[in-house]
Amino acid sequence: MCDFARDGRKWYHPGSRRRRCLRRVEEWHGNCSRRRWSGPAWGDGLSDEATKVESRKQEHLAPFRGDGVPSRGATTWLECVHLVHQALPEQHADEVDVSTIFAGRPFSAPLFVTGMTGGTAEAAAINRGIARVAGRLGIGFGLGSQRAMLADPRLASTYQVRDAAPDVFLAGNIGGTQLASTPLDQVREMLDRVGADALCVHLNPAQEMVQPEGDRDFRGVSEAIEDAVRGLGKPVIVKEVGAGISREVAERLRDLGVRHLDVAGVGGTSWVGAELVRRGGDPDPEAAAYWDWGIPTAAALAEVADLGFETIASGGIRNGLDVARSIALGATLAGTASPVIQAWFRGGEQAVADCLTGMIDGLKMAMVLTGSRNLADLRAAPRVITGGLLEWMRQRVKP
Ligand SMILES: Cc1cc2nc3c(=O)[nH]c(=O)nc-3n(C[C@H](O)[C@H](O)[C@H](O)COP(=O)(O)O)c2cc1C
Repeated sequence: MCDFARDGRKWYHPGSRRRRCLRRVEEWHGNCSRRRWSGPAWGDGLSDEATKVESRKQEHLAPFRGDGVPSRGATTWLECVHLVHQALPEQHADEVDVSTIFAGRPFSAPLFVTGMTGGTAEAAAINRGIARVAGRLGIGFGLGSQRAMLADPRLASTYQVRDAAPDVFLAGNIGGTQLASTPLDQVREMLDRVGADALCVHLNPAQEMVQPEGDRDFRGVSEAIEDAVRGLGKPVIVKEVGAGISREVAERLRDLGVRHLDVAGVGGTSWVGAELVRRGGDPDPEAAAYWDWGIPTAAALAEVADLGFETIASGGIRNGLDVARSIALGATLAGTASPVIQAWFRGGEQAVADCLTGMIDGLKMAMVLTGSRNLADLRAAPRVITGGLLEWMRQRVKP
């Protein structure tokens, strides 16, 4: 059994390095790493928490069977990055080298399928299918939030992809607020059970604020991230989900020891929008005003470009030219979610493979047309920045 110390209205685990804030004692107690998993055998009912998480993840998939939940008027501002056309490439198109290194691992192309799903039988098939394609292509793959398997360890199998993709760079996933209320050794066990190479910690305050049952207490997340960076022994990739990472947040994360960021900016999927769609009925006008809230992906890249991170550009990456523009702005990889899950629903693994190889081909085309032999050349290729991005950079990125 766990011991708990009580301090005012917060609960603390006495074994934690800095007495991490616990908001839900029952959850911690049920998940305490000192206890063995003792969930019911398969066939018994899931816990209330696991059932809620599972049905929410299922509801989140629904719009992506169709057109997804794109931003309404906002764009990524990647269209403000004009790579200057070079009409004399003097190279063979087949010799363009798109390989790179991220988190110490070789990637055949600078692409990452960012975290989406888990916790349901359908999610298990999606994770395995997409991971298999990512593994074949030599790119990265992220699991969706593993909260469901924290709530009920029997759901671990819905995140297990290693038999389908033994060599894929695999990132586990947890929300910042869950990280703050979960003992680190339980997070480690969560990653080990799926054979993850890294942990993505998602920050999604805008989504939580719109979700009726969402978290409202965002305290303790920075500390928990710092603990994870120091104690996990694996790269910790801090990501948004579509509202972007600012320079101020990136500087704080850098001070906490974080070396990997996924900026996940505005211009692609709107998670405020997805929550409103999920709620149904008349849209709440207060929440709807935040549909496009956040930092456009290109602006977020510019904000963090000189801070020394290995950065994933995501949020609205839809083709190889978007990937090329992101690399030119300093990203190491580009990440994509909605196009991949939509491809899955259209045509399973083949459609996912077509979507991702299409992006890689589009990237190679941009490289030929800018005279870039490899990604380092592309990063240095001449470009002109215009429009909103130029204005943003003038105000936010000090020369
Ligand atoms: C169906 C779906 C589920 C998602 N679930 C998660 C999640 O569990 N954890 C997470 O960090 N991000 C999640 N995301 C966010 C994506 O990883 C990504 O940051 C965001 O959708 C922006 O990329 P996009 O415009 O290419 O969709 C999800 C995205 C989709 C489309």
